[in-house]
Amino acid sequence: MPVPKFDPDSSNDSRDARRMSTLLEASQALSGTLNLKAGMSRVLTILMRHHGVVRGMITLLREGELHVEAIEGFEDRARSVRYKLGEGITGKVAESGKPIVVPRVSREPTFLHRAAKRGDGLRQELSFVCVPIMLQRTAVGTLGVDLRFKAERDFDSSVKFFGIVSSMIAQAINVQRMVEEERRRLLDENTHLRQELRERYDFSNIIGTSGPTRLMYEQVAQVAQTNTTVLIRGESGTGKELIAHAIHYNSLRAKKPFVKVSCAALPDTLIESELFGYEKGAFTGATARKKGRFELAEGGTLFLDEIGDINLSTQVKLLRVLQEREFERVGGTDTVKVNVRMIAATNKDMEKGMLEGTFREDLYYRLNVFTIFVPPLRDRKADLLLLADHFLEKFSREHGKVIKRISTPAIDMLMSYHWPGNVREMENALERAILVCDGAVIHAHHLPPSLQTADASGTVTHVSLGDAVAAYERDLIQDALKTTRGNRAKAARLLDTTERILNYKVRGYHIDVRRFKTPEVSRRMVAERQPESTPTEVASD
Ligand SMILES: Nc1ncnc2c1ncn2[C@@H]1O[C@H](COP(=O)(O)OP(=O)(O)OP(=O)(O)O)[C@@H](O)[C@H]1O
Ligand SMILES: [Mg+2]
Repeated sequence: MPVPKFDPDSSNDSRDARRMSTLLEASQALSGTLNLKAGMSRVLTILMRHHGVVRGMITLLREGELHVEAIEGFEDRARSVRYKLGEGITGKVAESGKPIVVPRVSREPTFLHRAAKRGDGLRQELSFVCVPIMLQRTAVGTLGVDLRFKAERDFDSSVKFFGIVSSMIAQAINVQRMVEEERRRLLDENTHLRQELRERYDFSNIIGTSGPTRLMYEQVAQVAQTNTTVLIRGESGTGKELIAHAIHYNSLRAKKPFVKVSCAALPDTLIESELFGYEKGAFTGATARKKGRFELAEGGTLFLDEIGDINLSTQVKLLRVLQEREFERVGGTDTVKVNVRMIAATNKDMEKGMLEGTFREDLYYRLNVFTIFVPPLRDRKADLLLLADHFLEKFSREHGKVIKRISTPAIDMLMSYHWPGNVREMENALERAILVCDGAVIHAHHLPPSLQTADASGTVTHVSLGDAVAAYERDLIQDALKTTRGNRAKAARLLDTTERILNYKVRGYHIDVRRFKTPEVSRRMVAERQPESTPTEVASD
């Protein structure tokens, strides 16, 4: 029996198999790249290789016109071709969302021949199949292919096949648009966050108008625009980090990174590789080169927090960076140059550290070029009310509460507390108060227990210095009179003063001297006719 000759076109099965493998290739071409244009060109090439496509074009709708996204088999000038909606076959397909088949291009009067002139380099008869690219039931573009003319071609099945290819393209466009949108959203968010950061660390967010705070503002303003190393000193929670941020965001480096290193939080073994980075193979686990914080802060500011806690060997390396602006990565020999402004902060007594030999003097002098002292909160009570208002507004907003004010006794409590934890402690106290507050006013009992002294119960009356001294003097005189059983001359001697002054004070303080005289004593005193117990004086008491 003669073996039938294999003709791929005559076998439906083999045609389907070929189409399946093309679809697989096309989907790989579209998903394997982030560059959608390149993916589309690749799809056209695949169609040309396996499906008798002579040339192909993908257009996408942009601002009411179809623009060429990808072409294969055309001359390059075809890339600039545009079709209006409804214009030519391509324009009609995009307008109607329905495929169009032109079995013989040479006999079709509406064929525009815009992308390729009639018979452009090709002498054969062509068929044209154009299918829409549909997204959410609207056409966003077209896939058009010129096929070798074959009288027996099954155009229905061709349209279906190219329809599947176009829906794959649509899917890829969809994914790309989502990625693009997400990217744009992230960019917007990033710009917004940067703006917010800048606003957050704007001067206006450092609250306070007291003398010491104003001096601090002046210093920040003086130094921000320079490249000078700044050392910020102050107790814990006074706002050192806030000042460091304010310096950065008000400097020429504001658009560059602000990188913080908490020296106290990093173990000695890690701090150097964190600061300077390391080379591949510097130690076990160093599988690739890693940049340190100095390199990450390039062009910007490096904030060395808690610098007082840094170990001596790292101090040597820091000193070199401060002097030369260069260093080597851990395990490396290449010298890395950096352009970084340094701000350091500490709540440690550095002078003591130097005396004890835990802090290098030369490093101290390098850091101590421009020092800003942040005063403790107890030394700037004038800022307290402003800060309280600021935190009240901030936390009410954050916790979605409507709290209008702080009651007078609560303000008194805030004012009379010594705030060992400074602004941070106050911030926490007010946040807690806002959380537990159930009305529109913060009352004394909403404040944390550490502030609950006699003030809270309202039993303390506020006294001026004069009043307090007077009360003390009155107590002393009464004590002395008690001891001398009402004898003014003796009491005056006890208090190392004259009897005349004592009498004057006794009158002034309305002290009833008779209360201190026992009956027996008074009798004797009358008998002895002591001058200090004259009836007039007693009467005047
Ligand atoms: N003048 C101020 N105005 C508004 N908020 C402030 C002010 N000072 C400090 N704060 C707030 O107090 C908190 C503590 O400030 P920050 O972290 O800057 O203190 P610090 O001096 O760095 O403390 P530590 O030494 O403990 O690290 C922060 O939440 C900060 O926003
Ligand atoms: Mg800090």
